[in-house]
Amino acid sequence: MPDKILIVDDDIDSLKLIGLMLQRHGYEVIAANAGNQAISKASSEHPDLIILDVMMPDMDGYEVCRRLRANPDTRPIPIIMFTAKTLVDDKVAGFEAGADDYLTKPTHPAELASRVKAMLARSVTQRRPEPAKGLAIGFVGAKGGVGTTTLALNVAAALALAGENPVLADFCLGHGSLGLLLGFGHSHGMANVLSKPTSEIRPSLIDGEMVVHQSGLRVLLSSARVKEAQLNYSFEAAVGVVRALKTMGRPAIFDLGSGLSSITSRLQREMDQIVMVLEPNHVALTMAHEMLHELEPDGSRRVHIVVVNHSPSSLQTPWHEIEQALGQEIRAIISAAHDQLYQATKTSVPLVIYQPNAVFSSQIMKFTEDLNMRVKAEPGGEMLL
Ligand SMILES: Nc1ncnc2c1ncn2[C@@H]1O[C@H](COP(=O)(O)OP(=O)(O)O)[C@@H](O)[C@H]1O
Ligand SMILES: [Mg+2]
Repeated sequence: MPDKILIVDDDIDSLKLIGLMLQRHGYEVIAANAGNQAISKASSEHPDLIILDVMMPDMDGYEVCRRLRANPDTRPIPIIMFTAKTLVDDKVAGFEAGADDYLTKPTHPAELASRVKAMLARSVTQRRPEPAKGLAIGFVGAKGGVGTTTLALNVAAALALAGENPVLADFCLGHGSLGLLLGFGHSHGMANVLSKPTSEIRPSLIDGEMVVHQSGLRVLLSSARVKEAQLNYSFEAAVGVVRALKTMGRPAIFDLGSGLSSITSRLQREMDQIVMVLEPNHVALTMAHEMLHELEPDGSRRVHIVVVNHSPSSLQTPWHEIEQALGQEIRAIISAAHDQLYQATKTSVPLVIYQPNAVFSSQIMKFTEDLNMRVKAEPGGEMLL
Protein backbone atom coordinates (compact mmCIF):
# COMPACT_ATOMS: atom_id res chain seq x y z
CA MET A 1 0.00 0.00 0.00
CA PRO A 2 1.42 3.41 -0.91
CA ASP A 3 2.01 5.90 1.92
CA LYS A 4 -0.80 8.41 2.22
CA ILE A 5 0.12 12.09 2.42
CA LEU A 6 -2.22 14.89 3.47
CA ILE A 7 -1.33 18.27 1.93
CA VAL A 8 -2.77 21.34 3.59
CA ASP A 9 -2.64 24.68 1.77
CA ASP A 10 -5.17 27.46 1.15
CA ASP A 11 -3.59 28.08 -2.25
CA ILE A 12 -5.21 25.70 -4.71
CA ASP A 13 -2.37 25.99 -7.24
CA SER A 14 0.14 24.97 -4.60
CA LEU A 15 -2.04 22.02 -3.63
CA LYS A 16 -2.24 20.82 -7.23
CA LEU A 17 1.45 21.25 -7.88
CA ILE A 18 2.69 19.46 -4.80
CA GLY A 19 -0.03 16.86 -5.11
CA LEU A 20 0.92 15.96 -8.66
CA MET A 21 4.57 15.81 -7.83
CA LEU A 22 3.99 13.45 -4.89
CA GLN A 23 1.62 11.30 -6.93
CA ARG A 24 4.34 10.92 -9.51
CA HIS A 25 6.57 9.56 -6.75
CA GLY A 26 3.95 6.93 -6.07
CA TYR A 27 2.28 8.40 -2.98
CA GLU A 28 -1.44 8.53 -2.38
CA VAL A 29 -2.40 12.17 -1.91
CA ILE A 30 -5.31 13.78 -0.09
CA ALA A 31 -5.78 17.52 0.27
CA ALA A 32 -7.28 20.11 2.60
CA ASN A 33 -7.46 23.85 1.92
CA ALA A 34 -8.22 25.05 5.46
CA GLY A 35 -7.11 24.30 9.00
CA ASN A 36 -10.35 22.78 10.25
CA GLN A 37 -10.61 20.53 7.23
CA ALA A 38 -7.01 19.43 7.81
CA ILE A 39 -7.78 18.38 11.37
CA SER A 40 -10.88 16.40 10.42
CA LYS A 41 -9.14 14.69 7.49
CA ALA A 42 -6.13 13.84 9.65
CA SER A 43 -8.33 11.93 12.08
CA SER A 44 -10.64 10.33 9.53
CA GLU A 45 -8.04 9.37 6.90
CA HIS A 46 -5.03 8.47 9.09
CA PRO A 47 -2.38 9.81 6.71
CA ASP A 48 1.24 8.67 7.10
CA LEU A 49 2.53 12.24 6.75
CA ILE A 50 1.13 15.77 6.71
CA ILE A 51 2.58 18.68 4.73
CA LEU A 52 1.23 21.78 6.36
CA ASP A 53 1.17 25.38 5.14
CA VAL A 54 1.61 27.99 7.86
CA MET A 55 -0.35 30.97 6.54
CA MET A 56 -4.00 30.11 6.11
CA PRO A 57 -6.99 32.36 6.74
CA ASP A 58 -9.10 30.32 9.17
CA MET A 59 -6.41 28.86 11.39
CA ASP A 60 -2.66 29.10 10.99
CA GLY A 61 -0.46 26.04 10.57
CA TYR A 62 0.99 26.35 14.09
CA GLU A 63 -2.48 26.06 15.60
CA VAL A 64 -3.34 23.11 13.33
CA CYS A 65 -0.12 21.46 14.42
CA ARG A 66 -0.82 22.00 18.11
CA ARG A 67 -4.31 20.54 17.77
CA LEU A 68 -3.03 17.50 15.90
CA ARG A 69 -0.47 16.92 18.63
CA ALA A 70 -3.09 17.29 21.36
CA ASN A 71 -5.18 14.43 19.96
CA PRO A 72 -3.76 10.95 20.75
CA ASP A 73 -5.11 9.67 17.41
CA THR A 74 -3.22 12.18 15.29
CA ARG A 75 -0.26 12.76 17.61
CA PRO A 76 2.12 10.25 15.98
CA ILE A 77 1.65 11.53 12.40
CA PRO A 78 4.83 13.26 11.17
CA ILE A 79 4.33 16.86 10.07
CA ILE A 80 6.42 18.92 7.66
CA MET A 81 5.66 22.65 7.85
CA PHE A 82 5.72 24.30 4.47
CA THR A 83 5.71 28.03 4.20
CA ALA A 84 6.91 31.22 2.51
CA LYS A 85 8.24 32.47 5.81
CA THR A 86 11.97 32.22 6.20
CA LEU A 87 12.65 33.87 9.53
CA VAL A 88 14.36 31.76 12.17
CA ASP A 89 11.64 32.71 14.67
CA ASP A 90 9.00 31.17 12.44
CA LYS A 91 10.92 27.93 12.24
CA VAL A 92 11.25 27.88 16.01
CA ALA A 93 7.51 28.50 16.35
CA GLY A 94 6.87 25.59 13.98
CA PHE A 95 9.02 23.17 15.96
CA GLU A 96 7.50 24.39 19.21
CA ALA A 97 4.04 23.69 17.84
CA GLY A 98 5.21 20.11 17.20
CA ALA A 99 6.38 20.06 13.57
CA ASP A 100 9.02 17.46 12.70
CA ASP A 101 10.58 19.30 9.78
CA TYR A 102 10.38 22.63 8.04
CA LEU A 103 10.58 23.64 4.38
CA THR A 104 10.48 27.12 2.92
CA LYS A 105 8.78 28.07 -0.34
CA PRO A 106 9.84 27.99 -3.02
CA THR A 107 11.35 24.54 -2.62
CA HIS A 108 12.83 22.49 -5.40
CA PRO A 109 10.55 19.48 -6.05
CA ALA A 110 13.52 17.14 -5.62
CA GLU A 111 14.19 18.57 -2.16
CA LEU A 112 10.56 18.21 -1.14
CA ALA A 113 10.51 14.61 -2.41
CA SER A 114 13.67 13.68 -0.53
CA ARG A 115 12.47 15.30 2.71
CA VAL A 116 9.18 13.41 2.43
CA LYS A 117 10.99 10.15 1.79
CA ALA A 118 13.37 10.65 4.73
CA MET A 119 10.55 11.60 7.08
CA LEU A 120 8.48 8.56 6.15
CA ALA A 121 11.48 6.25 6.57
CA ARG A 122 12.18 7.71 10.00
CA SER A 123 8.58 7.43 11.11
CA VAL A 124 8.40 3.75 10.10
CA THR A 125 11.17 2.89 12.55
CA GLN A 126 9.57 5.03 15.23
CA ARG A 127 6.01 3.83 14.76
CA ARG A 128 4.80 2.32 17.97
CA PRO A 129 4.75 -1.46 18.05
CA GLU A 130 1.37 -3.16 17.85
CA PRO A 131 -0.16 -3.89 21.23
CA ALA A 132 0.97 -7.27 22.53
CA LYS A 133 -1.06 -10.10 21.04
CA GLY A 134 0.02 -12.69 23.61
CA LEU A 135 -2.21 -14.69 25.85
CA ALA A 136 -2.58 -14.09 29.59
CA ILE A 137 -4.27 -16.66 31.80
CA GLY A 138 -4.97 -15.66 35.40
CA PHE A 139 -5.50 -18.20 38.19
CA VAL A 140 -7.51 -17.00 41.15
CA GLY A 141 -8.82 -18.84 44.19
CA ALA A 142 -12.36 -18.33 45.46
CA LYS A 143 -10.67 -18.53 48.86
CA GLY A 144 -7.17 -19.19 50.20
CA GLY A 145 -5.78 -22.71 50.39
CA VAL A 146 -8.02 -24.27 47.74
CA GLY A 147 -5.09 -25.23 45.49
CA THR A 148 -4.74 -22.24 43.13
CA THR A 149 -0.95 -22.11 43.20
CA THR A 150 -0.65 -25.88 42.77
CA LEU A 151 -2.98 -25.76 39.77
CA ALA A 152 -1.29 -22.75 38.11
CA LEU A 153 2.12 -24.39 38.52
CA ASN A 154 1.04 -27.73 37.13
CA VAL A 155 -0.81 -26.25 34.15
CA ALA A 156 2.31 -24.21 33.33
CA ALA A 157 4.45 -27.33 33.72
CA ALA A 158 2.07 -29.34 31.49
CA LEU A 159 2.49 -26.69 28.80
CA ALA A 160 6.28 -26.76 29.18
CA LEU A 161 6.18 -30.56 28.92
CA ALA A 162 4.22 -30.26 25.70
CA GLY A 163 7.02 -28.14 24.25
CA GLU A 164 5.24 -24.81 24.67
CA ASN A 165 6.92 -21.68 25.92
CA PRO A 166 4.95 -20.62 28.99
CA VAL A 167 6.04 -18.07 31.58
CA LEU A 168 4.66 -18.18 35.09
CA ALA A 169 4.42 -15.19 37.43
CA ASP A 170 3.46 -14.90 41.08
CA PHE A 171 1.54 -11.80 42.19
CA CYS A 172 1.29 -12.99 45.82
CA LEU A 173 3.87 -10.57 47.20
CA GLY A 174 4.96 -11.51 50.72
CA HIS A 175 3.20 -14.87 50.63
CA GLY A 176 4.50 -16.34 47.43
CA SER A 177 4.62 -20.12 47.56
CA LEU A 178 5.54 -20.90 43.95
CA GLY A 179 9.21 -20.29 44.68
CA LEU A 180 9.05 -22.68 47.63
CA LEU A 181 7.39 -25.35 45.47
CA LEU A 182 10.12 -25.03 42.83
CA GLY A 183 13.13 -24.81 45.13
CA PHE A 184 13.75 -21.07 44.72
CA GLY A 185 12.74 -20.08 48.23
CA HIS A 186 13.94 -16.51 48.43
CA SER A 187 13.60 -15.37 44.88
CA HIS A 188 11.80 -12.03 44.74
CA GLY A 189 12.05 -11.00 41.12
CA MET A 190 8.48 -9.72 41.02
CA ALA A 191 9.11 -7.25 43.86
CA ASN A 192 12.34 -6.12 42.19
CA VAL A 193 10.49 -5.42 38.95
CA LEU A 194 7.55 -3.68 40.63
CA SER A 195 9.94 -1.40 42.56
CA LYS A 196 11.11 0.14 39.30
CA PRO A 197 9.50 3.15 37.63
CA THR A 198 6.77 1.98 35.26
CA SER A 199 8.66 3.36 32.26
CA GLU A 200 11.51 0.91 32.99
CA ILE A 201 9.30 -2.19 33.13
CA ARG A 202 10.23 -3.93 29.90
CA PRO A 203 10.87 -7.53 28.86
CA SER A 204 14.65 -7.06 29.18
CA LEU A 205 14.32 -5.97 32.82
CA ILE A 206 11.91 -8.81 33.64
CA ASP A 207 14.09 -11.36 31.88
CA GLY A 208 16.94 -10.56 34.26
CA GLU A 209 14.67 -11.13 37.27
CA MET A 210 13.20 -14.45 36.19
CA VAL A 211 14.52 -17.83 37.27
CA VAL A 212 14.54 -20.93 35.10
CA HIS A 213 13.43 -24.21 36.63
CA GLN A 214 15.20 -27.43 35.60
CA SER A 215 12.12 -28.27 33.52
CA GLY A 216 12.76 -25.17 31.41
CA LEU A 217 9.82 -23.31 32.93
CA ARG A 218 10.58 -19.60 33.35
CA VAL A 219 9.14 -17.97 36.46
CA LEU A 220 8.92 -14.51 37.98
CA LEU A 221 8.59 -15.09 41.70
CA SER A 222 7.34 -13.46 44.85
CA SER A 223 8.91 -14.49 48.12
CA ALA A 224 7.26 -15.47 51.38
CA ARG A 225 9.03 -12.68 53.23
CA VAL A 226 6.33 -10.75 55.03
CA LYS A 227 8.03 -7.39 54.38
CA GLU A 228 7.48 -7.89 50.67
CA ALA A 229 3.71 -7.60 51.19
CA GLN A 230 4.27 -4.01 52.28
CA LEU A 231 5.79 -3.00 48.97
CA ASN A 232 3.89 -0.05 47.55
CA TYR A 233 3.52 -0.35 43.83
CA SER A 234 1.19 1.17 41.29
CA PHE A 235 -1.53 -0.41 39.16
CA GLU A 236 0.38 0.84 36.17
CA ALA A 237 3.50 -1.05 37.20
CA ALA A 238 1.52 -4.26 37.70
CA VAL A 239 -0.24 -3.85 34.36
CA GLY A 240 3.16 -3.16 32.77
CA VAL A 241 4.44 -6.49 34.11
CA VAL A 242 1.44 -8.38 32.72
CA ARG A 243 1.74 -6.78 29.30
CA ALA A 244 5.49 -7.34 29.11
CA LEU A 245 5.14 -10.99 30.15
CA LYS A 246 2.52 -11.52 27.46
CA THR A 247 5.20 -10.77 24.90
CA MET A 248 7.74 -13.07 26.59
CA GLY A 249 5.95 -16.40 26.60
CA ARG A 250 2.83 -18.02 25.31
CA PRO A 251 0.86 -18.25 27.39
CA ALA A 252 1.76 -16.03 30.33
CA ILE A 253 0.28 -17.60 33.45
CA PHE A 254 -0.41 -15.57 36.57
CA ASP A 255 -1.01 -16.71 40.12
CA LEU A 256 -3.29 -13.93 41.35
CA GLY A 257 -3.83 -15.45 44.79
CA SER A 258 -7.25 -15.69 46.39
CA GLY A 259 -10.11 -13.20 46.38
CA LEU A 260 -9.92 -9.93 44.52
CA SER A 261 -7.82 -7.14 45.98
CA SER A 262 -7.76 -3.68 44.44
CA ILE A 263 -4.71 -4.72 42.41
CA THR A 264 -6.05 -8.08 41.24
CA SER A 265 -9.43 -6.52 40.39
CA ARG A 266 -7.53 -4.34 37.95
CA LEU A 267 -5.21 -7.11 36.77
CA GLN A 268 -8.03 -9.53 36.01
CA ARG A 269 -9.11 -7.16 33.24
CA GLU A 270 -5.75 -7.78 31.54
CA MET A 271 -6.39 -11.52 31.45
CA ASP A 272 -7.68 -13.23 28.33
CA GLN A 273 -8.81 -16.23 30.34
CA ILE A 274 -9.36 -16.73 34.05
CA VAL A 275 -9.27 -20.00 35.93
CA MET A 276 -11.24 -19.79 39.16
CA VAL A 277 -10.40 -22.47 41.69
CA LEU A 278 -12.62 -23.68 44.50
CA GLU A 279 -13.15 -26.54 46.91
CA PRO A 280 -16.46 -28.37 46.89
CA ASN A 281 -17.86 -26.85 50.05
CA HIS A 282 -20.44 -24.27 50.94
CA VAL A 283 -18.02 -21.53 52.00
CA ALA A 284 -15.86 -21.69 48.86
CA LEU A 285 -18.97 -21.94 46.70
CA THR A 286 -20.51 -18.80 48.19
CA MET A 287 -17.25 -16.92 47.72
CA ALA A 288 -16.95 -18.18 44.15
CA HIS A 289 -20.46 -16.99 43.42
CA GLU A 290 -19.60 -13.47 44.59
CA MET A 291 -16.41 -13.41 42.55
CA LEU A 292 -18.09 -14.56 39.37
CA HIS A 293 -20.27 -11.45 39.42
CA GLU A 294 -17.15 -9.34 39.50
CA LEU A 295 -15.24 -11.35 36.90
CA GLU A 296 -18.04 -11.76 34.40
CA PRO A 297 -20.41 -8.83 34.79
CA ASP A 298 -21.26 -9.10 31.10
CA GLY A 299 -21.54 -12.88 31.00
CA SER A 300 -18.37 -12.99 28.91
CA ARG A 301 -17.60 -16.64 29.74
CA ARG A 302 -13.89 -16.21 30.08
CA VAL A 303 -13.90 -17.79 33.55
CA HIS A 304 -13.13 -21.51 33.78
CA ILE A 305 -14.19 -23.19 37.00
CA VAL A 306 -11.97 -25.88 38.47
CA VAL A 307 -12.88 -27.80 41.60
CA VAL A 308 -10.05 -29.30 43.66
CA ASN A 309 -10.92 -32.13 46.04
CA HIS A 310 -9.09 -32.14 49.31
CA SER A 311 -11.25 -34.58 51.24
CA PRO A 312 -13.36 -37.72 50.71
CA SER A 313 -16.32 -37.24 48.41
CA SER A 314 -18.91 -37.98 51.11
CA LEU A 315 -18.01 -34.63 52.72
CA GLN A 316 -18.37 -32.59 49.56
CA THR A 317 -20.97 -30.55 47.78
CA PRO A 318 -21.92 -32.60 44.67
CA TRP A 319 -20.67 -31.18 41.37
CA HIS A 320 -24.14 -30.65 39.90
CA GLU A 321 -25.07 -28.47 42.88
CA ILE A 322 -21.95 -26.39 42.24
CA GLU A 323 -22.84 -25.96 38.58
CA GLN A 324 -26.37 -25.04 39.45
CA ALA A 325 -25.31 -22.51 42.07
CA LEU A 326 -22.76 -20.86 39.77
CA GLY A 327 -24.80 -21.17 36.59
CA GLN A 328 -21.72 -22.51 34.82
CA GLU A 329 -20.18 -25.77 33.84
CA ILE A 330 -17.24 -27.07 35.86
CA ARG A 331 -14.27 -27.43 33.50
CA ALA A 332 -12.30 -29.88 35.65
CA ILE A 333 -12.45 -31.75 38.90
CA ILE A 334 -9.00 -32.48 40.32
CA SER A 335 -8.68 -35.45 42.67
CA ALA A 336 -7.01 -35.34 46.05
CA ALA A 337 -3.32 -36.16 45.75
CA HIS A 338 -1.89 -35.39 49.17
CA ASP A 339 0.96 -37.90 49.23
CA GLN A 340 2.05 -37.37 45.66
CA LEU A 341 2.01 -33.58 46.02
CA TYR A 342 4.06 -33.92 49.18
CA GLN A 343 6.67 -36.03 47.37
CA ALA A 344 6.80 -33.74 44.36
CA THR A 345 7.24 -30.68 46.57
CA LYS A 346 10.11 -32.37 48.41
CA THR A 347 11.96 -32.74 45.11
CA SER A 348 10.97 -29.23 43.88
CA VAL A 349 9.39 -30.66 40.74
CA PRO A 350 5.74 -30.08 39.71
CA LEU A 351 3.69 -33.25 40.06
CA VAL A 352 2.78 -33.42 36.34
CA ILE A 353 6.50 -33.77 35.62
CA TYR A 354 7.41 -35.83 38.68
CA GLN A 355 4.66 -38.39 38.07
CA PRO A 356 3.11 -37.82 34.67
CA ASN A 357 1.01 -40.98 35.02
CA ALA A 358 -0.68 -40.04 38.29
CA VAL A 359 -4.44 -39.45 38.13
CA PHE A 360 -3.84 -35.85 39.21
CA SER A 361 -1.40 -35.36 36.32
CA SER A 362 -3.72 -36.77 33.68
CA GLN A 363 -6.52 -34.55 34.98
CA ILE A 364 -4.25 -31.51 34.73
CA MET A 365 -3.15 -32.44 31.21
CA LYS A 366 -6.73 -32.95 30.09
CA PHE A 367 -7.78 -29.60 31.55
CA THR A 368 -4.81 -27.90 29.83
CA GLU A 369 -5.86 -29.40 26.49
CA ASP A 370 -9.46 -28.35 27.05
CA LEU A 371 -8.36 -24.80 27.87
CA ASN A 372 -6.36 -24.83 24.67
CA MET A 373 -9.37 -25.88 22.59
CA ARG A 374 -11.40 -23.05 24.04
CA VAL A 375 -8.67 -20.48 23.44
CA LYS A 376 -8.54 -21.68 19.85
CA ALA A 377 -12.27 -21.25 19.47
CA GLU A 378 -12.00 -17.54 20.43
CA PRO A 379 -11.93 -15.04 17.56
CA GLY A 380 -8.29 -14.72 16.52
CA GLY A 381 -7.36 -17.58 18.84
CA GLU A 382 -4.40 -19.83 18.17
CA MET A 383 -3.58 -23.32 19.39
CA LEU A 384 -1.30 -23.55 22.36
CA LEU A 385 -0.55 -27.23 22.00
N1 LIG B 1 -5.39 -31.90 44.46
C1 LIG B 1 -4.93 -31.75 45.68
N2 LIG B 1 -4.98 -32.75 46.57
C2 LIG B 1 -4.52 -32.63 47.81
N3 LIG B 1 -3.97 -31.51 48.27
C3 LIG B 1 -3.86 -30.46 47.44
C4 LIG B 1 -4.33 -30.52 46.11
N4 LIG B 1 -4.07 -29.33 45.51
C5 LIG B 1 -3.48 -28.59 46.45
N5 LIG B 1 -3.34 -29.25 47.59
C6 LIG B 1 -2.72 -28.82 48.82
O1 LIG B 1 -3.48 -27.77 49.38
C7 LIG B 1 -2.63 -26.83 50.03
C8 LIG B 1 -2.88 -25.45 49.44
O2 LIG B 1 -2.50 -25.47 48.08
P1 LIG B 1 -2.08 -24.17 47.31
O3 LIG B 1 -1.89 -24.56 45.90
O4 LIG B 1 -0.95 -23.49 47.98
O5 LIG B 1 -3.42 -23.33 47.46
P2 LIG B 1 -3.72 -21.77 47.28
O6 LIG B 1 -2.77 -21.24 46.30
O7 LIG B 1 -5.13 -21.77 46.79
O8 LIG B 1 -3.60 -21.15 48.62
C9 LIG B 1 -1.21 -27.32 49.77
O9 LIG B 1 -0.77 -28.01 50.89
C10 LIG B 1 -1.35 -28.24 48.59
O10 LIG B 1 -0.37 -29.26 48.56
MG1 LIG C 1 -1.37 -19.72 46.57
